[in-house]
Amino acid sequence: MRLLVATTNRNKLREIRGIMADLAIELVGLDAYPAIAEPDETGSTFAENARLKAVYYSTRTGVPAVAEDSGLEIDGLGGEPGVHSARYGGPEAAEYPKKFAIIYERLRARNAGSSSARFVCALALVDGPGLLFEARGTIEGRIADAPRGDGGFGYDPIFYFPPRRLTLAQLGEDEKAGVSHRGQAFRRLHDYLRVHPEVLRP
Ligand code: IMP
Repeated sequence: MRLLVATTNRNKLREIRGIMADLAIELVGLDAYPAIAEPDETGSTFAENARLKAVYYSTRTGVPAVAEDSGLEIDGLGGEPGVHSARYGGPEAAEYPKKFAIIYERLRARNAGSSSARFVCALALVDGPGLLFEARGTIEGRIADAPRGDGGFGYDPIFYFPPRRLTLAQLGEDEKAGVSHRGQAFRRLHDYLRVHPEVLRP
């Protein structure tokens, strides 16, 4: 049984393969197919964007697909950057230190200091246009008083995780995967497919 994981990110694919390792499912990334133009992520929620991406790639490849959408919600900024996490601050803030500076400036302007925040991951499993399964994972934390650590990616250096008293960028890759929003969502998918492998037609 083949399942397309709708990502070109090799790190994500490796992490997801690790979670699914005991299932008899061949996980392939988008790299296994001729290049397909990316869809516009027009949804207003993570779940909508995950569904939209999964249906888009599954209908174009003819293979069941799982897609995820993720991002950071900062309570002191009304949930920003949210679904706009990847493009927050526009083209001038393409690098993350610039996005961090915008976040600290906006938090200061609102006297929000060290705001509570969470990473969210929504995933959707589909076969063509048909939705098979959805899951969501979250990890709760705070915005660190300053960026710390050089592991991980994206907003990890400013996400302080209280149980470890470290930012996610200071955790090892395996430890992060064990607690992260994405790890949780894909472990839910794993548990669903362990019980319902028949949804992935042979
Ligand atoms: P996408 O769902 O891969 O498009 O990711 C959306 C954006 O959310 C990423 O580009 C990052 O900015 C942010 N993001 C999602 N997950 C993480 C994470 O685990 N650490 C840091 N940033 C993340």
